[in-house]
Formats: sequence, structure tokens, C-alpha cells
Amino acid sequence: MSDIAIIGGTGAMDLLPAGDIDSMVVTTCYGDPSGPILEWSVGESRCLFVPRHGPQGTIPPHRVNYRANIQALRDMGVGNIIGINAVGGICLSAKPGSLVLPDQIIDYTWSREHTFFDQVDRPVTHMEFDLPVSARLHRCLVEQAIELKLDCRPSGVYGVTQGPRLETAAEIDRMERDGCDLVGMTAMPEAALAREAGVAYAICAVVVNYAAGRAPDGAGIHDQMKQSVRHGMKQVNRLLGAVLQSPR
Ligand code: HPA
Repeated sequence: MSDIAIIGGTGAMDLLPAGDIDSMVVTTCYGDPSGPILEWSVGESRCLFVPRHGPQGTIPPHRVNYRANIQALRDMGVGNIIGINAVGGICLSAKPGSLVLPDQIIDYTWSREHTFFDQVDRPVTHMEFDLPVSARLHRCLVEQAIELKLDCRPSGVYGVTQGPRLETAAEIDRMERDGCDLVGMTAMPEAALAREAGVAYAICAVVVNYAAGRAPDGAGIHDQMKQSVRHGMKQVNRLLGAVLQSPR
């Protein structure tokens, strides 16, 4: 079975197994990734983990070196990446604690290092991105989520904001009119860079709060997060366990 890498965001350190984990400090031609890359085995598969916000969770979304993270995994010969992203739920069915497997993205970020095709001395490359996640890897996640009967929506539009501040209620209303089901800060440029690098990429979004202005009881976002992250990550853990053992 092939290797799989996880780029984990907020709360994703819960995904690490208790047993043997190797830690590798690597660097790339784009600089250092967010932290040491962790590696362990699951049956025949090799599993790698990049802590997107750094080992201590100190790197804000707009300062993540997305190019170095993807390049490091590419240099290690990884063929599949699953991004785990904490998000806010915009549509009613994206409730805190549930999972969504987005199949579309709207990018609202700006001024991030967003491409490997940055040179001015070779022909310009326009990468196709109409389907921003790997159909094969997305299907694999959907099938396993159904099999496990997880609280999981199989598709959705992920709107990626610049952060690190959260959104205004009016911004969320606009994103909903644009067609966004979820709001988060980290799927871009990660997804596009993986595509440019030729590595299959899919997203498992963990809804940790209702988007700004949408909480039915008016609860604050940070309180909602405290209550939902652990439950959401438990579901992610089960999903990844099944994906790692399935043919991809
Ligand atoms: N907005 C943006 N990013 C997020 C949110 C949110 O509500 N929740 C988790 N990441």
C-alpha cells in the first residue's frame, strides 16, 4: 500500500499514535517546513505527519510556509496528502463536531506564497484546478466515512479566508451567497501547491464552531471550539485509521 501524509491543523496532535514515532528535521529549497516531520507505520503503509501550525501551534495561518510543507513531502516521495482542517460551519448541516469532505474551494486569501511556478525564465504554466481535490482520494474518504457511519457530509464548498482574525457576520453572509458551506484559513494555497507538485490531495474538515453570527445560542467561537474539537478529532482518527488500511 502507498504512503499517506497528513497535514494536521488545530487539534490534530490528537491524531498521533501512542507507539513508535520517528521525528525527522528536514529542510527544502523553499525553506523549513512547519516542524519536524513525524513518521510511523500502519500495517504495510508509511504514515507521515506535518504539524501545519508548528509543534507548539504557534504559526498563524498566513505565516505557514505552505510551499516548504508540500515540497518536504514531495522530496520524501509521498503520493497522497490529506489535509485536516478545523473550520467554521456556514450551512446548517455543518454542525460543530461533525466532519465535511469538501470537494470545492473558494480562495479569499492574499499575499501568501502560493505557487511553485514563480520563475520568469521558463514558459508560463497554468495548472488546471477545476476539481481542487483528488477525486480518487476524496472518494476513498467518503466511502470509509459511510462505512464507519460517521457524522460526515460527503461534499461542500470550503471558503478560505486570510485570518488570523475571524470573520464578521456580514462576511459570512457574503460567503454564503458565494456558495461557501464552510470557512477556514488553511486549505489554500496548500491544495493548489499539492496539485502543482503532482501529489494527490484531499481535505477532511472538522467543524469546530458555527461561523460568525450563526451560533443558535449566541455562544462564543472559542467556547464552541473547546467543546467540539475532541469529538471531531475522534471521528477523524477513526476515518484515517480506515483509510490507511484500505486500498487507495
Ligand atoms: N473561521 C475561520 N477559520 C476557522 C473558523 C472560523 O469560524 N473556525 C475554525 N477555523
